[in-house]
Amino acid sequence: MGNSKNFLYGASGHCKVIVDLLKSNDDSIEAILDDNPQRGSLYGIPIINSAVFNQEANQKWIVSIGDNSIRKKIVKSLNSSFFKAIHNKAVVSNYSNIGEGSVVMAGAIINQDVTIGTHCIINTGAVIEHDCKIDDFVHISPNAAVAGGVEIGEGTHIGIAAAVIQGIKIGKWVTVGAGTIIINDIPDYAVVVGNPGRIIKYNIENNVKINKSKIWLSSPHMGGNEQKYVKEAFDNNWIAPLGPSVNGLENDLEDYLGEESNVGALSSGTAAIHLGLILLGVEAGDAVICQSMTFSASANPILYLGATPVFIDSEIETWNLCPLALEESILDGIAKNKKPKVIIAVHLYGVPYKIDEVRVVADKYGIPILEDSAEALGSSYKGQKCGTFGDIGVLSFNGNKIITTSGGGAIVTSSKKLKDKALFFATQSRDDTPHYQHSEVGYNYRMSNICAAIGRGQMEVLDAHVSLRIKMHDFYADLFKDIEGIDVFSSPNADYSANYWLSAILISPDATHGIKVEDLRLAFEKENIESRPLWKPMHMQPIFADYPFYGRKVAQTLFENGLCLPSGSNLTNKDRARIAAVVYQVFNIKPDSKLTENYVAGNHKIERIKGENLDVSSKIEELPTFKISEK
Ligand SMILES: Cc1ncc(COP(=O)(O)O)c(C=O)c1O
Repeated sequence: MGNSKNFLYGASGHCKVIVDLLKSNDDSIEAILDDNPQRGSLYGIPIINSAVFNQEANQKWIVSIGDNSIRKKIVKSLNSSFFKAIHNKAVVSNYSNIGEGSVVMAGAIINQDVTIGTHCIINTGAVIEHDCKIDDFVHISPNAAVAGGVEIGEGTHIGIAAAVIQGIKIGKWVTVGAGTIIINDIPDYAVVVGNPGRIIKYNIENNVKINKSKIWLSSPHMGGNEQKYVKEAFDNNWIAPLGPSVNGLENDLEDYLGEESNVGALSSGTAAIHLGLILLGVEAGDAVICQSMTFSASANPILYLGATPVFIDSEIETWNLCPLALEESILDGIAKNKKPKVIIAVHLYGVPYKIDEVRVVADKYGIPILEDSAEALGSSYKGQKCGTFGDIGVLSFNGNKIITTSGGGAIVTSSKKLKDKALFFATQSRDDTPHYQHSEVGYNYRMSNICAAIGRGQMEVLDAHVSLRIKMHDFYADLFKDIEGIDVFSSPNADYSANYWLSAILISPDATHGIKVEDLRLAFEKENIESRPLWKPMHMQPIFADYPFYGRKVAQTLFENGLCLPSGSNLTNKDRARIAAVVYQVFNIKPDSKLTENYVAGNHKIERIKGENLDVSSKIEELPTFKISEK
């Protein structure tokens, strides 16, 4: 090492091992630099404050920090020359090459014709077989084994005792978990765990600066006048919970829904379901039927009341309550002297459930319907608006819904009397006396005037939002129409008019050459695009697993093969182009040269991928007949 002086940067745990290595090799170390020099020294080597240190030409460095991205940052800031350190108990072939700034710990073995880049860590007992090419800033952890001919990209971290089989190519800034066995090539930035190694996410937060803005599944979309209504509320000091905007929003919704509906604005859709069940007479011990394929808020209020949920499978056309399984469950309940009290039916992702068929079954047995229309404001069936079909209806204005009040919901009743009773419960069940008197349990479920003010502005753009969501659905129908194995969730016929709150697809991996929901989800995530598996059915949820379920595996099959895609009314042509680019890449479609511009212009052309036709319905029909499980 001539007349140069050796320095380390970073007095970390990893630094201790390097100090020990250098001492065992009888190499000298002048000092360790650190941003936090209070400790004074490490094994007799002085620790110096990096802020006051003067760099000189004869200094050589090793950055003794285990984290690859921090090590790289410091190397770039040092503007110095570096030295490498190889423990005298490591076995390194003379036919291998190790870059400056790298360290090879005791017990490591590096076989013939291996190239190791600069600033790498080949940790204790790691084995790198012949002909591997390891780029800069890589860390191979203790006892990891890399077989012959493997290539590893910059910044990648191979975890403790991980193994990589021969000939594999691992991209840059990949994280391979401890004990992971890598048997396939791994793309850049992936986080891989398990045996065989599975990509669970991408290292986008730490290592990659994503310049692309996030595309959300469904984000709030203001129309413009919301602030005007909120300002009015401030100007008139109507900040207190109730006020004119609450009545205004209720009137707007009643006009919109028609059917002489009565609307009570509440703090959430969940509150509306809770009060709806109370109004329909549900008490502790009652059985309440609920569509299994839904968000948990449809079912949780059943438990609030101490009642028993009975979950029902989906049918394959609207993915909602299966009328056959519904009747099966009612008959079974009646046979056991436990006729269900209420049926909760949901318009999943804004596609109306089989309204006529479900109503026939409900009326046959005299059971009221609580219509969970949280996702379906703006949808209709045979010209009638969703929210008005149940004995009681429920709307949600949660932040992700088609319109939002930041948080809120509404109950829809067929009579003024029922609405008044709902609002009575929602305002602490206060009796009509000058003092506070309560004869029934009350709730604090009313919507605030400020939230309602936002809602008034949102009502002005509801129709526009519905058409923009439908446009997103049409975009996906077009995007996937030539890709075998993808089915875009769509209304079964012209009677059903969906708001397509969320667009969703079903993937049949048999026909997509093995491409699954998770592959597409991860590819979107890598591009900072949010997508999400369909709602996990309630009967598969740990909290509801012990309750009865009637049906087969339709909801389960949907969950396992379905993905919700970005659907917001505020998505732009550029966003759609980014989404299309991911789909083209995942399905290996070669569009015309200028893919994104072509898509925006609507004149794209894609090559068909050959594969079998998707036939999820026939798959579902083959499943075993009704499985009835009971608590
Ligand atoms: C089907 C369904 N039911 C109920 C709710 C609950 O609505 P909220 O979030 O307003 O309580 C939601 C959404 O959040 C929903 O998607």
